[in-house]
Parts: sequence; C-alpha cells; structure tokens
Amino acid sequence: MTTVSVIGVGYLGAVHAASMASLGHTVIGVDVDEAKLAELSAARAPFFEPGLPELLGQTQDTGRLTFTSDASAVAAASVHFICVGTPQRADGLHADLTYVAAAVDSILPHLSPGDLVVGKSTVPVGTAAGLAEQVRASGAELAWNPEFLREGKAVQDTLSPDRLVYGVPGGDAGARAQEQLDEVYAALLAKDIPRIVADYPTAELVKTAANSFLATKISFINAMAELCETAGGDVTVLADAIGIDDRIGRKFLNAGLGFGGGCLPKDIRAFIARADDLGAGDAVSFLKEIDAINLRRRDRMIELALDVCGGSVDGVPVTVLGAAFKPDSDDTRDSPALAVAAGLAEHGARVTVTDPEAIANARRREPGLDYEHDLETALTGAGLVLLLTEWTQYRSLDPVATGALVDTPRILDGRNVLDPAQWRAAGWTYRALGRP
Ligand code: UGA
Repeated sequence: MTTVSVIGVGYLGAVHAASMASLGHTVIGVDVDEAKLAELSAARAPFFEPGLPELLGQTQDTGRLTFTSDASAVAAASVHFICVGTPQRADGLHADLTYVAAAVDSILPHLSPGDLVVGKSTVPVGTAAGLAEQVRASGAELAWNPEFLREGKAVQDTLSPDRLVYGVPGGDAGARAQEQLDEVYAALLAKDIPRIVADYPTAELVKTAANSFLATKISFINAMAELCETAGGDVTVLADAIGIDDRIGRKFLNAGLGFGGGCLPKDIRAFIARADDLGAGDAVSFLKEIDAINLRRRDRMIELALDVCGGSVDGVPVTVLGAAFKPDSDDTRDSPALAVAAGLAEHGARVTVTDPEAIANARRREPGLDYEHDLETALTGAGLVLLLTEWTQYRSLDPVATGALVDTPRILDGRNVLDPAQWRAAGWTYRALGRP
C-alpha cells in the first residue's frame, strides 16, 4: 500500500481521497478551506454526493484518512494527486490555472526524489509539459491522470471507472511513473478496468475530447428539438428511434434544458480558447455552436413560459422545481434551472425555487429569488410550474394531487420526464421543449 496526498478536496478530491483510503492506502487530504477540512475530518461530506458520507465514515474509522491545511504534511506521501478546480477565467473563455499552479507550488518544497505528482484536474493541453520541468527540479516526476467521474455517481465512477488514463513522459521516467500508478490502482486493475498509457498531451486531450463529445451529443439532440418545435415533431421519440442504433446510442440523448455544471460548459470554452492559442481554432469552432445551442434552450424555456401565460409572466407566481444543474447533486454552477428561474424573475414573475439539496448553494448564487424547502408549500398557489431538474421526487409527482395544490394547472417540463397524456388528462396545460 502507498501513502498518497490529495491536494484540493472539493467534488473531485474529497471523493478521490476517500476512495483511495477505501482501497487500503494511507491518505492525507490537503486544502486551504478550513471549513471544508473540519467537515471532512468529522466524516461529513461538505457537499451532497450519494455514498460519500458512508465512505468517509468507513475510511476514517480505519485511521488511514486525515485532512490538513498544512502542505508540509505531504512529505509523508510518495504519490501526490492534484485535484483542484480549473474554473472558467472571469476575463474570457480560458481555464483559470491559478489553483493548479498554487497547488503544485505548495508541495514542491516537500517532495522527495522518486515521488510522483499526479495531475487529475482538467487542464488545457500543454499544461502538464509546463509543470513537469518544475516538478523534476524537485527530483520528483509528473504524470497526468484525468478523472472522468460524474457528480452524483462520483464514488462509483472513482472505484469502478470506465478506464484509467495515464499521461507519462517517455523512457525510464515514464515506466517508473506507470509502475507507481499501477501500484495505487492495483485493486482497480485487478477488476480488469482498461488502462491506457499515453503521453501528456494525449492524456490531457482525452479528457477534453470526452467532455466535448458529451456536450456535442446533448446539443445535437437539442438542435433536433429546435427542429421538432418548428416542424412539429417529438424529440423524445426521435431520440429513442435513433438511439436504438448502437453506433449512436440512447445515452446522453435526453433533450431538454441542456447541460450545465462545473465541467461541460467551461471545458468546451477552455478547449475553444486553447485551440485558438495553438492556431487550431478551426478544428473545434463547432464547439461555439454547441455552446450556443445549449444556451438557446434557456431562452426558449423562458419564451415558452411567457407563451403559456398569454405573453407575460409579470406578477405570476411561478414555482421552479430544481436548482441543481442535475439531479443527485447540490451543485448550482452554471445551472440551467437557476438561469431560467432568474430570467423569469427578470420578466416580473414571482419565482419560488425548490430543490431537495441545492437551496443553500442556489441562494448564494441568486440571492434575489425566493426559496422553499417543502415541495407542497412551494407548489401551493402556483400559476405556473416548471420542472427544470429531474429529481426523482419531481418525476414521480402525481398530476391530480399536484393539481389540487396549484392555482392554475400549467406545467413546463424542461427535462421531458413527465407523461404528457397523464398530465393533460388531469386537466393540466402541459408544454415541453421539442414536443408538440
Ligand atoms: C461531466 C462528465 O459526464 C464526466 O464524465 C466528467 O468527469 C465531468 O463532467 C468532469 O469533467 O468532471 P458532470 O458535470 O457531473 O460530469 O455531469 P453530467 O452527468 O455529464 O451532466 C452534465 C449536464 O448535462 C447536466 O446539466 C445534465 O442535466 C445534462 N444532460 C445530460 C442533458 O441535458 N441531457 C443528457 O442526455 C445528459
């Protein structure tokens, strides 16, 4: 077993740290956020992630998982995972690499010869090559090992990933880095999880390409939804029909309000910016359209709301079901649901937002909206209901019982998860994106 450090214990790092400890490694989690460290040290997850509290509890009981703000603690470890965020820069499309640079700087003085620094953060191609010089100057080596976990399924994705990708340097240094990673991931490799060994740029690009492909798939089906809206058609049937072809596949073909979160939107934008820097902007210029299609869905949702309310939502009590960017997450970064809620408020609607887990984060992001934890209370007296994040409790709402709570039975299904016939039969005006 190995002693590893994990620098940055957010959505990625906290799950990675707990997962590595569950594999039997000794793990030192490092972060600058004392509040987060206090929560994790008490075996509480600082954010909503199914399975994480249990994993933290189990691994902390073993004594193998500790958290600290003192970067010198990493001296006890030989493999160091960089798990900090790379958000979009405020001044444009590029990724902000400040946290990656700071994380590497913070551990450099504490590295020992033979140590391996492993980047897991999503970075623009070329980043690893730049950092490798610095790391080598400390006698250590650098690998890039991108992470493909989904929020809401992070524990499962970390412990049973589809694949492991190692970006390593050439020659003996690369062979040794690969050996060290194989040791850390031995339990996963024993389960026959595919491992792909590549150079730095390929490993970095695998991650960006994967997220770009996923975003493209979603925007493709949302573009078809636009067509269905104008030509008269049902995008859900279309998706089922084309998805049967296993070259296409039905997964990630759910039309609706589109993608958000801390990854897909900023990753495609950073890719556009990086490709431009490299003089290869044309190769990914289609991603600008992917982003535009995605953002148009939010405008279209607001138009639909205006439309079903007879041209204006001014003064209309609107209930928004969902604030998180997707179900099973409390993450509201670039949340389509929250963007639509805020847009409706700008049009004069009296918006109440409810969400099982994301209200605290949503309130920080959109303090001007009203929030209600209780679903029934949120629905009572509504003049319009919008289902914008497909939490199970919203998908399974009973149209008759819900109809008894609201003032006017009008619902917009932003995720195409309700049965239109059932809702219409219960007296509701039902509208959705990409459906007649
Ligand atoms: C995404 C990728 O799926 C992960 O593989 C990757 O590791 C992660 O980004 C990352 O870069 O860290 P995540 O952001 O957790 O994971 O969310 P997804 O499950 O990919 O969903 C993204 C968005 O697409 C959500 O807003 C979701 O509602 C939307 N979506 C998804 C659709 O609109 N339609 C679909 O069919 C699927």
